[in-house]
Amino acid sequence: MWQKESTKNNTSWGKVAPWYQKIVGNDGHFYHREVILPNVLRLLNLKSEEKLVDLGCGQGVLARAIAQDIEYCGFDISSEMIKTAISLDKNLKHRYTAIDATHNILNQRADKIAIILALQNMKKPFAVIRNCKEILNLNGKLVIVLNHPAFRIPKHGDWIVKDDRQFRIVDNYMSPLEIPIESSPFDKKNNELSYSYHYPLSFYSEILFDNGFVIEKIEEWVSPKKSTGIKAGIEDKARAEIPLFMAIVASKR
Ligand SMILES: C[S@@+](CC[C@H](N)C(=O)[O-])C[C@H]1O[C@@H](n2cnc3c(N)ncnc32)[C@H](O)[C@@H]1O
Repeated sequence: MWQKESTKNNTSWGKVAPWYQKIVGNDGHFYHREVILPNVLRLLNLKSEEKLVDLGCGQGVLARAIAQDIEYCGFDISSEMIKTAISLDKNLKHRYTAIDATHNILNQRADKIAIILALQNMKKPFAVIRNCKEILNLNGKLVIVLNHPAFRIPKHGDWIVKDDRQFRIVDNYMSPLEIPIESSPFDKKNNELSYSYHYPLSFYSEILFDNGFVIEKIEEWVSPKKSTGIKAGIEDKARAEIPLFMAIVASKR
């Protein structure tokens, strides 16, 4: 297991890393465990000895969920995230590198690539997808999981309740946005900023197309949470209708 440090990797995500470790832990946060990881494993359909590259791997939650015999390389811009990932992972087939995934320096080959809840945090997603094209083997697969770009736009989407119905409202969809996210808005002393980048769905289709990918499948995943109390009925209906996450499976044309 090795770690290559880049001198330019002191990003906002470094400061956010302890907070992220607290909410994700060893097995992932609720949505990792209940929705994202089981579905990503199904979509990746990893075969024995295949090589998986995980871009924006964070503290390595996917690495800890895959079968032992998969060759795994996790890349993240934050060396703090990578340090945590290494400390939680004893598998000798796993490698981690602190690197900006937008740089064209991924001297790698991959049978499968995963980008889980991370492309939306990368400032130059086109460059990331271009790198995916470079490193993915023929017949390889790219699996991207996003916070749903139509319904979960931080600070630009919300719920409203009217006439016993819960609606999702959105005030910005087509225009790209850079959205600062506070880790602890009510605890100013420990508050750190990271950034989320919003693009419409057609943008993802376009950057995949322009880099020689074909979209095989799009899935939309809802929350399995259930409400209790007087509004449980309308909340559960809204949750079942408005997806939280979108997954894109793409392969090379
Ligand atoms: C929300 S976290 C998701 C991490 C992990 N995939 C997970 O599901 O727990 C987003 C990650 O993207 C990483 N990231 C942001 N910009 C990046 C870039 N340009 N290159 C590589 N990683 C980046 C951050 O450091 C952070 O770990």
